[in-house]
Amino acid sequence: MRYDFWGKGAAVARVFGTRVSLQTWHNLVCGVAREISMVVRARKVARWVDVGSGDGETCLEVMEAMNDLSPECQRLMLVTVECDPTARTLQSEILPDAEVGGRVVARLSDWRELSSEHGATVVTLLHSAYYLADSRQELAEVLRYLSEIITAEGALVLASLPCSSPMFQLGELGLYKTGRTEDILWAAEALGLTARVRQPGMKWLAMGLQCKGERDMAELDAVIRYVEGRHDLHVGDARRERFLKQVKKLASQGEYLDFQDNIVVISTNS
Ligand SMILES: C[S@@+](CC[C@H](N)C(=O)[O-])C[C@H]1O[C@@H](n2cnc3c(N)ncnc32)[C@H](O)[C@@H]1O
Repeated sequence: MRYDFWGKGAAVARVFGTRVSLQTWHNLVCGVAREISMVVRARKVARWVDVGSGDGETCLEVMEAMNDLSPECQRLMLVTVECDPTARTLQSEILPDAEVGGRVVARLSDWRELSSEHGATVVTLLHSAYYLADSRQELAEVLRYLSEIITAEGALVLASLPCSSPMFQLGELGLYKTGRTEDILWAAEALGLTARVRQPGMKWLAMGLQCKGERDMAELDAVIRYVEGRHDLHVGDARRERFLKQVKKLASQGEYLDFQDNIVVISTNS
């Protein structure tokens, strides 16, 4: 699977991006920072590998949130793994090498390039597990591979949506085959690893989308065009109507749509 997030997909990323509740986004960032800090806290030197880092903005925010949480960790090295060249170019602006406290040490383009020489204290997949596998079994293999590069007493920290997320109701237009919270928990159990789930309460699409005004319709059309491009499908009128009906229903349920983000922590304890 290849998805275009950072090229022509950037337009719709902005549609979603501008509709994130900033306060709740902060909850997700701080929740991830807290989990990483709990793992790296006792070490002077730690290595954080982030898989599917995108433009690097989320890593930067998590790193900033960690400054107060793990002062004992004097040297945190970050390895970003991102297959999309456009995103990697954006990353080099947001996370320039040897900046952010000299913390960025390597950029890789695919998780398969990781090996024991990249031995990590913690590995994160922040909304990227959906794109790394086509089935639960494949996902378990990816997680096994990643857990094997983690040094003793480390953890895998994932942000993911559950199957009940409105994202997947809208996702009639674009389905993820795996990488949802339930798939991750299944994979962890298959690997005999312990997992726990926290809900940071991140909320995304504002209720302002009432599907009435021209602006709303333009935004929703952008979402549909994006999904069409990403999944190489023609949505058609019937699906488009179903999508709009679903957005209206969800938008009427509260000020924000709660996409039900989860943070899943898998202890590797090897
Ligand atoms: C939804 S984005 C998440 C970006 C970032 N983690 C964040 O939270 O903003 C998923 C990212 O995973 C990347 N990705 C997909 N398959 C990958 C692979 N095999 N190796 C590395 N990155 C991959 C995509 O290019 C995309 O940037």
